[in-house]
Amino acid sequence: MDLSVEGKVYVNGVFEQACIGVENGKIVEIKKILKEDEHFDFGNKLILPAGVDVHVHFRDPGMLHKEDFYTGSVAAVSGGISCVFDMPNTIPPANSVECLDDKIKIGNRKSVVDFGLYAGVTNDNIDKIEGLNEKCNGFKVYLGSSTLSLLFDKKNLHRLLDKVSLTGKPVLFHAEDEECLIEHKMVEKNLSDHLSCRPAVCEEVSIKNVLSMSQGSNAKVHICHVSSCEGLELLKGHLGNVSFGVTPHHSLLNVEKKLGFQSFYKVNPPIRTSFDKEALFNAINNGFVDILESDHAPHTMEEKNVDFDVAPSGVPGVETMYPLFLYLVKKGFLSFQRLTSVLCTRPAELVGVSKGCIDKGFDADFIVVDLKEERRIRSDNLHSKCGWTPFEDWPAVFPSCVFIRGEKVIDDYEIQVSKGFGRFVGV
Ligand code: DOR
Ligand code: ZN
Repeated sequence: MDLSVEGKVYVNGVFEQACIGVENGKIVEIKKILKEDEHFDFGNKLILPAGVDVHVHFRDPGMLHKEDFYTGSVAAVSGGISCVFDMPNTIPPANSVECLDDKIKIGNRKSVVDFGLYAGVTNDNIDKIEGLNEKCNGFKVYLGSSTLSLLFDKKNLHRLLDKVSLTGKPVLFHAEDEECLIEHKMVEKNLSDHLSCRPAVCEEVSIKNVLSMSQGSNAKVHICHVSSCEGLELLKGHLGNVSFGVTPHHSLLNVEKKLGFQSFYKVNPPIRTSFDKEALFNAINNGFVDILESDHAPHTMEEKNVDFDVAPSGVPGVETMYPLFLYLVKKGFLSFQRLTSVLCTRPAELVGVSKGCIDKGFDADFIVVDLKEERRIRSDNLHSKCGWTPFEDWPAVFPSCVFIRGEKVIDDYEIQVSKGFGRFVGV
């Protein structure tokens, strides 16, 4: 064995004082006593699986002033995430084999966390899915327009699901119905106008559509960032081949709250009412939600600090997601079982990586936390290039150490590895 790590380890849903033995980046043993030459003893600090974020926008290539694979991945690991899956709305978009190849190279050169990529599917490349499949971990489809999105016409859904089902990989939907969005278009001056422009009914119509098309299909379907009670109701008790995600911003923020400068909170789908927010949080708690995904969508302060109607949509979140929810666990609002399910196990299952669980055979990706170490979220301490957070001043619990494939990537809250440590997780 190469090393052993000792602490209060989360195994099979309980904490045990134990040691994790690691060889070639994998967990090979979990025992009361193990002592390799390289041994890290964390005493009674908690050791939890690292998170997997299935939804980030690292802006690389093409928008390096907002983020790049290095800064995005340092933000991820600082917040306890060991593996991210990047969305295709970069410049150029990742909707061809060449662009995916370039992106794999970029990630391999710059990332400090392991990563995977989605191929963007538009009306024009449905027939190329087989080729794209060789270079991606899943597919992303936008059924409604959003910032930099690659629009897809719902009349092609059947053909898309047929093709995707042959790959065995997931297809992720931005489910807001384009026709419905067009119908509700109006001048937007604030968040409440934004909500009127993108009402829950647009999400409802779109999810209904995807669900009815998915029936009888073997495609692995994931609905991203469900944001409304209506959407949630449709998905309760969904079929086995369908999963859905919720974001921290939709489950913790609501439009009635004094949110500060409004364009900073402009995001698609929009932040909705306290009623929606509470329903989403309860659904995470009650086991209805499969996955918590950050939808980390950084835009700079300069880009956001403009009139509401011209501001881009999107909020950062990859670094604050796990710490915010760890704090909620500390306060008794959520169980460790639910936390690790939505942040680790289920996302890893969706994208088919051997991560998200402290058990033999899985990658040795884990975080060390001390629940007493509560910190306020401060933009100045975060690592995204965008330089701000919608959760400024919120209490959180950050991991002091993070291991990826048995390597200490964060030690005492500081990054220990250089660019390129992260690996493409393969296809
Ligand atoms: O608010 C959003 N921002 N929604 C999206 O679908 C895209 C994202 C971005 O890339 O900025
Ligand atoms: Zn997104």
